Amino acid sequence: MPAVPDIRIHSDSQSEAEAAAVFVLEVGNEAVRANGRFLIALSGGTTPETLYRVLASPAFADRFDWARATFFFSDERCVASDDPRSNYALAKTVLFNPLNIMPSQVYRMAGELSDPQAAASEYEQQLRLATKTLPSAQPSLDLVLLGLGEDGHTASLFPGASILRDHQRVIAATQSPKDPPNRLTMTLAAINRASVILFLVAGAGKAGVVRAILDPKTEAERRLPASLVTPEKGRLIWFLDRAAAAELPIHRQGTSA
Ligand code: 6PG
Repeated sequence: MPAVPDIRIHSDSQSEAEAAAVFVLEVGNEAVRANGRFLIALSGGTTPETLYRVLASPAFADRFDWARATFFFSDERCVASDDPRSNYALAKTVLFNPLNIMPSQVYRMAGELSDPQAAASEYEQQLRLATKTLPSAQPSLDLVLLGLGEDGHTASLFPGASILRDHQRVIAATQSPKDPPNRLTMTLAAINRASVILFLVAGAGKAGVVRAILDPKTEAERRLPASLVTPEKGRLIWFLDRAAAAELPIHRQGTSA
């Protein structure tokens, strides 16, 4: 039985990001208490920027021992690491630099490599080593942050992609209908092994796809990549602003603040 999502709705994207930041630090402190470290995968796109700015702000920066954090990425575009489209470039500017995160704490997907398959294999090795995962197992991160595209994609898992049916690989090279076309992505198997999966979605433009994922009416909606994110043992949390939640029926509205 898939985990029942915990849906948390906030009035606007700023208050949503602040609430999500409190939650991320709760998960981080829980992970440090249990294992002495916090393994977090960051998502891409533009939505996380507000969350990163909140986490790096004076009100939050001292509420967690950031030296205990190891950062991964749930996906990356195949561009240079300083390309404005790079998910790493955004995190470095808005989160890692302000928090003085050491390079050794960050596992960056080498999107700039000319061979995306090789980059995917290299990152899978790094992820397995960093999380002490056996070749036969899937790594389990403490928190995977995800965004949601209007077509129902998440990470760089796009509708109809063959990678959606791959239960072996952890990291894969894939294609995107959105620029840039070549991507590296965590697979569903890797994402679904996380202890906590957090969707952060904001804006009226996402209201339709949020309804399709959280209150699907058709098999096609149930097969959208974001609908296939169902943690094996972990928790699934959706942070939405009111605009993104606008088409949800009342029984799916979760908690509003
Ligand atoms: C990426 C992302 C992707 C993103 C969604 C939402 O690399 O593009 O990982 O899954 O989260 O497309 O993007 P926005 O936050 O920009 O709407």
